[in-house]
Amino acid sequence: MITAKESMFRLDTVNTTYLFRTTKFGHLEHIYYGTRLDVSEPADVLAQKRTIPIGSSVIYDESDQLYCLDNMYLEWSDNGRGDYRQSPTELKMPDGSFVSDFVYASHTIAEGCLPMSTLPSAYGGDQTLTVTLRDTSCSVTLDLYFTVFEKANIITRRVVLTNEDQNPLLIRRIMSMMTDMPDENFRMLTLDGGWIKEAHLHERLVEYGIAINSSNTGASSNRHNPGFILAESDATQDNGHVYGFNLVYSGNHFSSVEKSGRDILRVSIGINPHCFEWSLNQGDSFETPEAVMTFSEWGFNGMSHNMHSFVNEHIVRSNWKTREHPVLLNNWEAHFFDFNENKLLNLAKNAKKLGVELFVLDDGWFGKRNNDNSGLGDYSVNPKKLPCGIKAFADKINALGLDFGLWFEPEMVNTDSMLYRNHPEYAVKHPNKKPVLGRNQLVLDLCKSEVRDYIVKNVSLILDEANISYVKWDMNRHIAEGYSSSLQNQGEFYHRYILGLYNVLSRIFDPRPHILLESCSSGGNRFDLGMLCFSPQIWCSDNTDPVERLKIQTGLSYLYPLSTMGAHVSQAPHQQTLRKTPLATRFHVACFGCLGYELDLKYLSPEEKKDVADQIAFYKQYRQVFQYGTFSRMKASKANKIVWQAVSKDKNTAVTGFFQTLETAAESEDRLTVTGLNEGRYTIRTRPQRMYIERFGGLMKHILPVVLNPDGILLRVANRHYSLKDCVQEYKCSKEALRAGIALCNQFSGTGYNEKVRMHGDFGSDLYITEYINKEMLTDEE
Ligand code: DGJ
Repeated sequence: MITAKESMFRLDTVNTTYLFRTTKFGHLEHIYYGTRLDVSEPADVLAQKRTIPIGSSVIYDESDQLYCLDNMYLEWSDNGRGDYRQSPTELKMPDGSFVSDFVYASHTIAEGCLPMSTLPSAYGGDQTLTVTLRDTSCSVTLDLYFTVFEKANIITRRVVLTNEDQNPLLIRRIMSMMTDMPDENFRMLTLDGGWIKEAHLHERLVEYGIAINSSNTGASSNRHNPGFILAESDATQDNGHVYGFNLVYSGNHFSSVEKSGRDILRVSIGINPHCFEWSLNQGDSFETPEAVMTFSEWGFNGMSHNMHSFVNEHIVRSNWKTREHPVLLNNWEAHFFDFNENKLLNLAKNAKKLGVELFVLDDGWFGKRNNDNSGLGDYSVNPKKLPCGIKAFADKINALGLDFGLWFEPEMVNTDSMLYRNHPEYAVKHPNKKPVLGRNQLVLDLCKSEVRDYIVKNVSLILDEANISYVKWDMNRHIAEGYSSSLQNQGEFYHRYILGLYNVLSRIFDPRPHILLESCSSGGNRFDLGMLCFSPQIWCSDNTDPVERLKIQTGLSYLYPLSTMGAHVSQAPHQQTLRKTPLATRFHVACFGCLGYELDLKYLSPEEKKDVADQIAFYKQYRQVFQYGTFSRMKASKANKIVWQAVSKDKNTAVTGFFQTLETAAESEDRLTVTGLNEGRYTIRTRPQRMYIERFGGLMKHILPVVLNPDGILLRVANRHYSLKDCVQEYKCSKEALRAGIALCNQFSGTGYNEKVRMHGDFGSDLYITEYINKEMLTDEE
């Protein structure tokens, strides 16, 4: 709900209130963002008191010695008017100066969202406030948009700058939003990393000066995700003030948090000004990407729940919105480039037997793509690998009862390709410098319409030729030389590339909403809200080692829901870390997301095959909870434990993942807490898992009546065909007992084995399923 009364603007969501007003000089003064206020609350109580001049101030107007922009809480600020903090803009105005001063002109309140002309944005908002500001001396206007998503507790913001002056205006920097808030000893949390270590959570105290979170690789990047968090110093997962920010954008982003000498925090987020320059002639406008803000007084989980429901309800679209994603098998790690139709069909048959629903053919099916030196750009099927073509192959996969999905990397080209030989001018490169390569490839210049048309035409042809219900859209290098011969002003390159990408994606996928698009960029190099407007699922990382994925998926979970995270079970020892982890743990981590398998199933032992079949059946039973349940990071009282929980929408079912990283000798007791359930009584039980004999090594002699060589053929064969049962616990108790934390059976500690001992060791884990007990199901004693 948005109200505008006298000079005051009030934006309410279910649990938050945002307040600002126009000052007597027409600036927008920020007053409050936090827990929802009573409608009768007088804003003056919350507004900054300015009762004495502050030394060293530059006064905006001599009529008011207390009005110094530098010391005020603002919604927007300019350059050259006495505010020395980071300005959201750097504009060379039509008069040639860098001085701007935008003041209130008018406002409107409209129902719903107001569509954007060039960029993807959230949909299904409740109301939009547009405040129009006008520069005090040039004919330039700035529209500030605020859209309220009440149930999700989200406010989005963006601006449109329009030049009505006959002289051009040059934009060197323009943020999507800016706000000033009182410091609460904030910590700033960001998701940073690189290839195979994406989205690791880092936190720092917000100190005096400026903290920046940005990317300049041409993508939102695996280095620094665009989303970030500000949390009051003692906020926990479930308590305390936490603010979340994000950007609906996939290109170079920039956010800054500046703490001024007056302890005011200035937060802004938008396109990275690095190498950015945009010129507006008379009548031209520039619209920024949409920024997203949320607040929760219920800690990090409260903030995440807001962000999750916003993404599921207002970002993800197509037929896949809130629909369960299929269990897939991807052939990449099974084959890399070395496959033929037989190998693929054998893998698919095995996958089908185990319960997989979608078979994905990854890189290497087209052109001369037998390694990563050649072929990108030529999307005609390689007849040596698929002699009857893609349609015939897709039909064979469909005939096995599997859906078919296909990999593309449409934004790239190898110099060893037909496309590059015919059209070297399609690649991004500087006219007088030798191009720099990433994974042996160049980037196609999406600023050029002929390149966009080539991609749309060629990808569409294949999508229409065969029955393809899933596409993996990969992008495997950073952009280096931001240059396009189609542009007069190279400062436009990075933004125009992203506009080109969105253009291509909507032309291909808007007419084909049945296709589930999974975006990927060397793993999670483009995990952002812009891509999620097109692809409901994103490949989090090439790293599927579950211990590493605990970090990656935990990091992402702060800002993105589980329904968006592609997560696979792969082989152990793991390809990137050499870590050997139990199959159960690989599954327990991957099931908190969109489950897939990525390994050669023919190398699984008969016992492991049964295991995988059970995993998939279990996942299907609880898929709704895993993909669309309310996800929380639970308190773990020990440093070597990580606990995740997903609760069904009706709050009657919960699945808890209890993960142990490195075992410590003689582990003490563990307790398990389940929260967020309805009143009532519940059963809680362990998902039964197999305990492979090989995990015991030489200890087998304590269990078996005969002594066997732990590395001998007998035990190795036995390991393929038999396994022990790990400890299964089952209790009946109230919601209150679950909230308090129930005591779990002991862990193995070198003193013996029985069925009531949890055998975790390094990297062990359990899943616990909590389910509401119907009154009718209760026995007399209960
Ligand atoms: C990078 C992706 O992250 C992998 O999953 C795989 O698709 C390769 N590219 C293929 O080249």
